[in-house]
Amino acid sequence: MKFLVFSVIFVLATLQGALAVVISSPTTQYEVNQPLGHGTYGTVYHVTEKTTGQVYALKEFQDSPLYCRCGRTEARLLRLLNQNGAPVPKLIESFENGDQCHLVLQFMSKNLLQYQREQSSNNHRLSLPEIRIVARNTLLALQVLHSNGYIHSDIKPENIMVDDSETFDVKVIDLGSARHVAHNQYYDLQTLHYRSPEVLLHQPYTPAIDIWSLGLMLFELATGYYPSFSFDSDTPMQQLNNIGNVFYPDQKEILRELDHLLLDENTLPKDLPFRLTQIANLLFSTQPNFVAFIPAFFESIEDTPPSNALLHLITQMLMPNPANRISAEKALKHVFLADPDN
Ligand SMILES: Nc1ncnc2c1ncn2[C@@H]1O[C@H](COP(=O)(O)OP(=O)(O)OP(=O)(O)O)[C@@H](O)[C@H]1O
Ligand SMILES: [Mg+2]
Repeated sequence: MKFLVFSVIFVLATLQGALAVVISSPTTQYEVNQPLGHGTYGTVYHVTEKTTGQVYALKEFQDSPLYCRCGRTEARLLRLLNQNGAPVPKLIESFENGDQCHLVLQFMSKNLLQYQREQSSNNHRLSLPEIRIVARNTLLALQVLHSNGYIHSDIKPENIMVDDSETFDVKVIDLGSARHVAHNQYYDLQTLHYRSPEVLLHQPYTPAIDIWSLGLMLFELATGYYPSFSFDSDTPMQQLNNIGNVFYPDQKEILRELDHLLLDENTLPKDLPFRLTQIANLLFSTQPNFVAFIPAFFESIEDTPPSNALLHLITQMLMPNPANRISAEKALKHVFLADPDN
């Protein structure tokens, strides 16, 4: 009987060994354990380095020159951020097999969306100390990127990693779609839910678009995705309407223009760029009114002491006019981050 059990384990182990997928770099080999995430750019795997047994996350980009270029950008920016001590995973090595780019990264236990989903006993809200760490670390990474002329361009919970095994640590990932400010003529950036008004309105944009996404994300972490205050839409025009309804509830002209734009959406009018610029001028010259926003914030956290300082920081990040939006550098000095009692 003992012999039989031993034989079965041996056969299984041999089979597993034979089936194990290995990715080779110029210096070592990584055994693939399981996929951690799959996105536009490729797949991220949990891997074990064969000689040391150390575990890492290995991001394998799609096998094409275009995606390989994104991989090289991500590796270059990760090195820049690592050198500056910014909170991003350590880049262990990067290598290419033909047109396929690979990045070996410090492993982090889960992304922020997964972490938020786990907080079901607290209505999917994070605590104030946790929100402070998310805000500070994301801003620290953005500050290095922005001061070097780069925009992350996809700040959202799936692109923020959390390690809660000992302390609560937070790092920014996914720099594959980061771009230099000089290349700001394309509008196919940012996940729709976190897309800034200037990108939706096809206006020139700056690193301030990352701050908009962060402001919305912090609001959702604090309120647990407050149901009646959601920007979730299927199209950019719907998204613009939602932003209008939340921030300009008493501005009839803005709401009428946005509504007409939504109605005309399927006819694709030739004068769309002109109309978008007109609406941008109107929107950006009108002070937003946070009447819907502020009660939403406080109602959702009635059982915990609400933080005025956090609400103030979020509203500064969610200024529809990018010129009035707080910068990463200034936000890091905001009272919510500077003073843990706020
Ligand atoms: N260092 C890491 N440690 C652990 N898991 C990771 C790490 N990096 C990425 N992941 C997981 O893989 C997922 C996808 O990673 P990433 O965002 O870098 O890839 P992507 O292909 O650019 O994704 P998308 O196109 O969806 O934005 C992350 O949301 C996360 O769950
Ligand atoms: Mg991603």
